[in-house]
Amino acid sequence: MILKNIGLLAGIVPDGVLRKEGAAMGETGMLENAWLRIDDGRIAAFGKMEDGCHSTACPWNLSDDEVIDAEGGMVMPAFCDSHTHIVYAGSRAGEFLDKINGLSYEQIAARGGGILNSSDLIGKTSEDEIYRQSLERLREMQAKGTGAAEIKSGYGLNPEGELKLLRVIRRLRETSPVTVRPTFLGAHAVGRGYTHEAYVQEVVDMMPQAAQLADFVDVFCDEGFFTPEDTARILEAGKAHGLRPKIHANELAVSGGVQVGVRYGALSVDHLERTTDAEIEALRGSETMPTMLPGSSFFLGLPYGRAKEFIAAGLGVALASDYNPGSSPSGDMRFVMALGCIRMHLTPVQAFNAVTLNGAYAMGLSHELGSVTVGKRANLILTGPGWDLTRMAYHYQTPCIRRVILNGKIA
Ligand code: NIG
Ligand code: FE
Repeated sequence: MILKNIGLLAGIVPDGVLRKEGAAMGETGMLENAWLRIDDGRIAAFGKMEDGCHSTACPWNLSDDEVIDAEGGMVMPAFCDSHTHIVYAGSRAGEFLDKINGLSYEQIAARGGGILNSSDLIGKTSEDEIYRQSLERLREMQAKGTGAAEIKSGYGLNPEGELKLLRVIRRLRETSPVTVRPTFLGAHAVGRGYTHEAYVQEVVDMMPQAAQLADFVDVFCDEGFFTPEDTARILEAGKAHGLRPKIHANELAVSGGVQVGVRYGALSVDHLERTTDAEIEALRGSETMPTMLPGSSFFLGLPYGRAKEFIAAGLGVALASDYNPGSSPSGDMRFVMALGCIRMHLTPVQAFNAVTLNGAYAMGLSHELGSVTVGKRANLILTGPGWDLTRMAYHYQTPCIRRVILNGKIA
């Protein structure tokens, strides 16, 4: 397949660059008036239209039906959403009303609602039905330009429920063109009927089976949920079974979670609505990607993460949707990018790097996805004519996506 007459090819990154940090977050390669060739689902070559016929990868040798005229549209990497909880049943619309009437996320959880509410629904819903509902959400994300997503368990909260959700995630991975990375989040809340201690032990005991189905282990390390000590225990058990940590930290309080995550070599530490300079220091020089979730700041009225300060300190930042029924009921990564600009004061290019290459890094996929690089899988968004990264964030609700291409095929 050839894409010709691309108005702007954005997100060109040299081979081997797996994440962007500090000043590099403000840069990405762009080519105006370009073409791009896809072979076997991968980006094979790209160049300027005017150079087309002189290049060895001359795009004009192919039959017409393999050529897509981009008509001046922008082509960019599909979004890489490194933090979602889309496998759940039903909704929490009742709690949405409680929230409107003034209850906080913590107050709803303390009444036995919140995550436990979703967990009750998992017990009552068949695996097929959970799959059906979750696939609908994944398709919605795909239509909005997401080409890769991490998906967590965490609404089962007992061995039967957690494994049920991990099987649903596996089925989504097998049936969707979106690249899916599964995470075991048994430690999302203490399951009903358990004491805190007994549940932490149960999560540790679930690890061998969960590790058959998941790539990552996650813990909600925050006030009212799990302590840094619980987190260390669970991450250790996860690592012993080959699961790389990716954790929730510092959403509700400065929890110590960032430091535990870095200590255990987490691929990412996520949320970070509340941080001090100690968290920045802990992350410096680490392989851990700080990941912020502006959709949950927006929905819950929490502070936004200090992404600008992290970047000024030389760190990278990823942004993800956190799509879930309680704190971020949207998987729209373009809105996440816009919130990055509007509320976190990132430049459009910084926000773009945060939702593409750095998101891919935070799922261990940036060698394959997240940029326009020869050899990477062709997961691309094609917009209508005249779009660029600034306009995407600025006119954040004007439909702009014309086609989503996943693994070289129109999805
Ligand atoms: O990332 N903070 C913890 N977990 C989710 C919310 C889950 C829920 O409320 O259902 C989050 O925001
Ligand atoms: Fe989350």
